[in-house]
Amino acid sequence: MEKIKSSFINKEQLPLLIQPQNAFSKNEFYQFLSQEKEQLKAQLLKYGGLLFRDFPLENADDFAQGIKQLGLGNFIDYIGGDSPRNKINEGVYTSTEAPPSIKIPLHNELSFVKNYPKHIYFFCEIAPKEKGETILADCRKVFKGINRPVMDRFNQKKLRYVSCYYYKSAIMDFINKIQPSHKSWMQVFETDSKGDVERKCNENEFEFKWSKNDWLQISQVRPATIKHPETLEDVWFNQAHLYDFNRKLLGNWRYVVAKLFYYQDHRKLHQIFFEDRSSVRREDLYHVMKVLDDETLSFPWKKGDFLVLDNVLAMHGRAPFEGKRRVLAAMTG
Ligand SMILES: [Fe+2]
Repeated sequence: MEKIKSSFINKEQLPLLIQPQNAFSKNEFYQFLSQEKEQLKAQLLKYGGLLFRDFPLENADDFAQGIKQLGLGNFIDYIGGDSPRNKINEGVYTSTEAPPSIKIPLHNELSFVKNYPKHIYFFCEIAPKEKGETILADCRKVFKGINRPVMDRFNQKKLRYVSCYYYKSAIMDFINKIQPSHKSWMQVFETDSKGDVERKCNENEFEFKWSKNDWLQISQVRPATIKHPETLEDVWFNQAHLYDFNRKLLGNWRYVVAKLFYYQDHRKLHQIFFEDRSSVRREDLYHVMKVLDDETLSFPWKKGDFLVLDNVLAMHGRAPFEGKRRVLAAMTG
């Protein structure tokens, strides 16, 4: 590892910043990733994230190649995810297409899915002039920050996530045109065959129900906390705070629109319950959101940055921005 230097960009030590001592060619960088994969993996388990900066990666293909050389797992698709995004090539997506003015709160990617991604990767093609950071948090610290009564309530019963996806809807198309905000089930499952959707639901242990106008409702039951599969550390690992439509999450304007439009059961885009369908207290979700705010870290993107996160140890989100920003994302299982 003498060809590189490591440092931190914040006192919380997430992520570990890795830079070249001297210029690397693309192939030298891939070789470095492949030869040093064991040591890099150990650092990832310690710090939760690695940021490779000033290496010569330029585009989606270079990004995908870097991920393959690191060898942490195979690409997985975004099945069951709800954020609007586009697939570019094998395993590589644009990170959320949600409007620039909206903050994407911290979360672990697909933590409500049984086969959740173990790692998530980001690549900065166009750095925003200001703001637009990919925000981060250390899930071990989040776990410690949640107060005891809230932790007990979340650990007593598993969470039940309920999502609804539309089929063909002029209103949803219109809303998405103004502000990309939700996906159809064809986009979520990357197919227009109901049979394929049902097969994928069964594979992922989603309960499903077809409702009025061919809307699809899916429901998943998952624990609120898990032990890291390798380090066995306890971590907060759920998205309950993103499944309750409230003023704090949406802001006043979006909250009122959501209330007006999504009032029928088959249209409620997201709902959160405990497994037995009892309610999750809103004040508990507000407490979780406060802990996440307190633990939020951020760093400005630089073009060519390649960020690798252990999806169980580190949460991510996106700060609002103005102007151009293009950050690609990929996941491996
Ligand atoms: Fe995400």
